[in-house]
Amino acid sequence: MKKTIDVCLSPDLVHLYDFDGKVAVVVDVLRATSCMTTALAHGVEGIVPVETLEECEQLGKEGYLTAAERNGEKLEGFNFGNSPFSYMDETLKRKSIAVTTTNGTRAIHLAKVRADEVVIGSFLNLKAVSNYVQNIDKDVIVVCAGWKGRVNLEDSMFAGALVAELQSTYSLELDASKIALSLYEAGKHDKLAFLSDCNHIKRLQKLNIQKDIEFCLEENVYNVVPILEGNRLILG
Ligand code: MLT
Repeated sequence: MKKTIDVCLSPDLVHLYDFDGKVAVVVDVLRATSCMTTALAHGVEGIVPVETLEECEQLGKEGYLTAAERNGEKLEGFNFGNSPFSYMDETLKRKSIAVTTTNGTRAIHLAKVRADEVVIGSFLNLKAVSNYVQNIDKDVIVVCAGWKGRVNLEDSMFAGALVAELQSTYSLELDASKIALSLYEAGKHDKLAFLSDCNHIKRLQKLNIQKDIEFCLEENVYNVVPILEGNRLILG
């Protein structure tokens, strides 16, 4: 029987999905899962995604490096914000980082308590994630981080990109998978142009953030798959 790939377009819809025995691919293209993928690709040993600033601060006291972002901005008192370029530093090799972001870390926790496995997806590691989920032979649910519960274009588009990768051997049960696929097919030839009017790109541009956007939309830059082991993301 064919495996299925479903798409949950917002974390606030996870209660409608049956995650038993399935792998959740969590995506927050701009920028949490792009950062996590970049960090592990550059030798960071582990990332602990936490939902609150207090948890992040506490891990900092326990010796972790810390990253905190809210509404696109780095917070004072933490080592990093949420730019992928912050995680390319050679000095971070073999370090562990506690991370909290506006939407991405919440989506990871919602998936963690439901799915058999949690995998981190981004355009940067699209092919690697596609190959990984096909090898573990489980039904897939893409969990889009969105923005404060609302659906966004960029995460939905990634979901469509993964559906496009898997559609020849997986069945698309729900309309959300078809919506995501149509979105990706419509914009894949120039994602930056297609997404130029999306809410979070405009939000980030108001913060003078542009190069992160262009980088996070690149496909297959890293052949790595972050997976959740306990409370830590490590290389799968
Ligand atoms: C998020 O968690 O929604 C994003 O990562 C926010 C951002 O980094 O711009």
